[in-house]
Amino acid sequence: MNETLVRWLEAREIADTRSRSRELAKAFAMVVKTTDQVIDLGCGTIANFRYLDPFLSMNQNWIGVDHDSGMLRRSEALVPRTRVQLWEMDLAFGIGSLPHGQGYAFTASAFLDLVSLEWINRFADHCKESPILIAMSSVGQPEWSPTHALDEPIRKKVELHQTSDHGFGPSLGANAASYLADRLSDYGCQVNLQETHWELDSQDHALLSMMIDGIERRVGTMHDPIDAQSWAIQRRDQLHHGELRLVVRHLDLLSLPRSIPVLVEFD
Ligand SMILES: C[S@@+](CC[C@H](N)C(=O)[O-])C[C@H]1O[C@@H](n2cnc3c(N)ncnc32)[C@H](O)[C@@H]1O
Repeated sequence: MNETLVRWLEAREIADTRSRSRELAKAFAMVVKTTDQVIDLGCGTIANFRYLDPFLSMNQNWIGVDHDSGMLRRSEALVPRTRVQLWEMDLAFGIGSLPHGQGYAFTASAFLDLVSLEWINRFADHCKESPILIAMSSVGQPEWSPTHALDEPIRKKVELHQTSDHGFGPSLGANAASYLADRLSDYGCQVNLQETHWELDSQDHALLSMMIDGIERRVGTMHDPIDAQSWAIQRRDQLHHGELRLVVRHLDLLSLPRSIPVLVEFD
């Protein structure tokens, strides 16, 4: 298990919980039956279960799926084992073998921007008959305040990394949520997207600090590197003095299958 990833997921869970669409979570909970099984794709530290379970009747059984066996062992201790099974599976290849159709609902959090166009096509085809809630898909690059002369070249590098292959083929990155929305709409599903942007400031010290470190490390080792060190030093100084703000744009997506009558009205 990657300890850095765990620390990152723990830090982002606080911002995700604050930013996620409660409206879409409630609408998802309204259509998921008590007898349905909820399948959480890329469940990681099981943050999505922690967020969503209180919206549900808390009777549903969950299946958390992830390819990281160490992460799953760690998560085992954090869930009620009578209701939550954890499956080790590489979703790049395994999506078609997951149970689907009536009796299942699908969810994911901080996962969709990792996957490719072909994967989304397979996922939409496989899961279109079920309620789907996909939270916290990144739809843009970090917007720092105050601005810095290196923000734009750094943004381009981060985007290159985001759209690289994360195990599913070239990632759709910031376009993944809208692409999935279009595919599910093509199947006649009722799809709703809501903005769930992170708006971070000094209260998110750990998360901001990890973002600065990560960007400095990544940009410094990419082809044609930028000297991100001076950028990072200034950002840490601004963070230390409570002057740093960051917006990271995200979307939550809810899809209801054609078989469910329209019972949810959104603003
Ligand atoms: C950014 S984390 C999100 C974790 C969790 N859903 C959350 O909200 O904190 C992405 C998760 O997807 C998992 N993942 C990445 N590639 C995967 C693959 N090919 N098959 C299964 N899980 C994968 C990672 O192990 C990680 O736990």
